[in-house]
Amino acid sequence: MTIPDTMYALVQKHEGFSGKREGPHIERLDIYVDGADIPVPQPAEGQVLIKMSMASINPSDLHYIKGEYGHPRVKGAPAGFEGVGVVVAGNGKDAEALIGKRVAFTVQSVGSGAWAEYALTQAAVCIPVRDDMRDEDAAGHVVNPLTALAMFDLARKSGAKSFIMTAANSQLCKLMTALGRDHGIAPIAIVRKDEQIAHLEELGARHVLNSQSSDFTDRLKQIVKTEEPTILLDAVANQVSADVFFAMPAGARWVVYGKLDPEPPVMREMGQFVFMHKQIEGFWLTRWFMSTPRDEQVRAIAEVQERFASGKWVTEVDKRVRLRDAIDELAGALNSTRGKVMLIP
Ligand SMILES: NC(=O)c1ccc[n+]([C@@H]2O[C@H](COP(=O)([O-])OP(=O)(O)OC[C@H]3O[C@@H](n4cnc5c(N)ncnc54)[C@H](OP(=O)(O)O)[C@@H]3O)[C@@H](O)[C@H]2O)c1
Repeated sequence: MTIPDTMYALVQKHEGFSGKREGPHIERLDIYVDGADIPVPQPAEGQVLIKMSMASINPSDLHYIKGEYGHPRVKGAPAGFEGVGVVVAGNGKDAEALIGKRVAFTVQSVGSGAWAEYALTQAAVCIPVRDDMRDEDAAGHVVNPLTALAMFDLARKSGAKSFIMTAANSQLCKLMTALGRDHGIAPIAIVRKDEQIAHLEELGARHVLNSQSSDFTDRLKQIVKTEEPTILLDAVANQVSADVFFAMPAGARWVVYGKLDPEPPVMREMGQFVFMHKQIEGFWLTRWFMSTPRDEQVRAIAEVQERFASGKWVTEVDKRVRLRDAIDELAGALNSTRGKVMLIP
C-alpha cells in the first residue's frame, strides 16, 4: 500500500500543563488544537504506523488537550489517545509482524495521536482485533473496557453484593452495569437526567437515581439500607459523591477514577474514617498496566473481545464526526447525552 507524505491531523496548540482544573467540557475545539496537513510520522524501532479507521473520544482526551491530565501536552503533536485501524508500516521484527492487521491501540507520549489519518504507537501496545468485533467497539477497546473489568474486580474481590456508580450513563458505567448484571452484584446507578433512567434499568441496573431530583437523599438512604453497598465507583468527585459516600455503611470504599465536576467536595463527616473504617482511594488504568502481570492483561483483553463479540457489551455511539469537520462540529457533538462520539477519517 502507498503511504502518502502528508496527512490531515488535529495538532495540539499548547505545551505542558495549564495549571487549571476546569474539567473535560469544551465550548470550542480550536482553542486547543489546529486542523493541519503535517508529515506522516515514521516509525522508530519497535513502533508501527496505523491507518486510522475510527477514534473514540474519551473525557481523558479532553482533559489532556486542556492541559489537565496526568502527563504534559506536546505542542505540534496530533491529539487522541485511543482508536482502531490497520497497521501499514512497522520498524523491527514485532512491529513488522503486525503489518496488515486490524489493531486496537492507545498512543503514549512518544507516539503520534489518533486524531489524524495515521497514528504512530508502540507495537507492544497494539491489540489485534477479532474479525467479529465492530470498529465501534474496537475503537474504545482499551481505556473503558479494561478499566471496567479492573474496577468491577475491586467490587467482586471485596465480596460486595452491590456497588454504586456516579455518571452512570457513561460508556464505562454501561459496561460495569452489564458486569454487575452478569455476575449478580447489583449496580446502583446515579445520573443527573431522568431520560437516562429507563435505559440503564434495561441494561441491568437494579436502582437508578437522579441526583437532581427532590427525593434523591431519601431514596438513597432507603437503598443503602436494603442493598448495603460498600463500593462507590466515582467519576464525578463532587459534593454529591461525598454525600453518597458518607451515607454508605461502615467499611465503605470511595474509588475516585475521574474528575468530571471541577468543583471539589466538602468532607463533612471526617469521624467516619476513624470509627467506620471508611477509605478513599484512586484508580488509574496506566497504573493498572504497570502493576498487573502480562498473563492477567492478556486474559482481560480476551474477555473484552469475547464480551463485545457475543453482544454482552455494546459501545453505544451517538455521533460520528469526520476528522476534517471536527474543528467546527466536535464540541457541539460532545453535548450528546446518549452515547459516544467517534472521529472517522
Ligand atoms: N481512571 C481511569 O483509568 C479511567 C479510565 C477510563 C475512564 N475514566 C473516566 O471515566 C469517566 C467516564 O468515561 P466515559 O468515556 O465512559 O465517559 P462518556 O461515555 O463520555 O460519558 C461521560 C458521562 O459523564 C457524565 N458527566 C459529565 N460531567 C458530569 C458532571 N459534572 N456531573 C455528573 N455527570 C457528568 C455525562 O452525563 P450527562 O449525560 O448528564 O452529561 C456522561 O454520562 C470519565 O471521567 C473518564 O475520565 C477513567
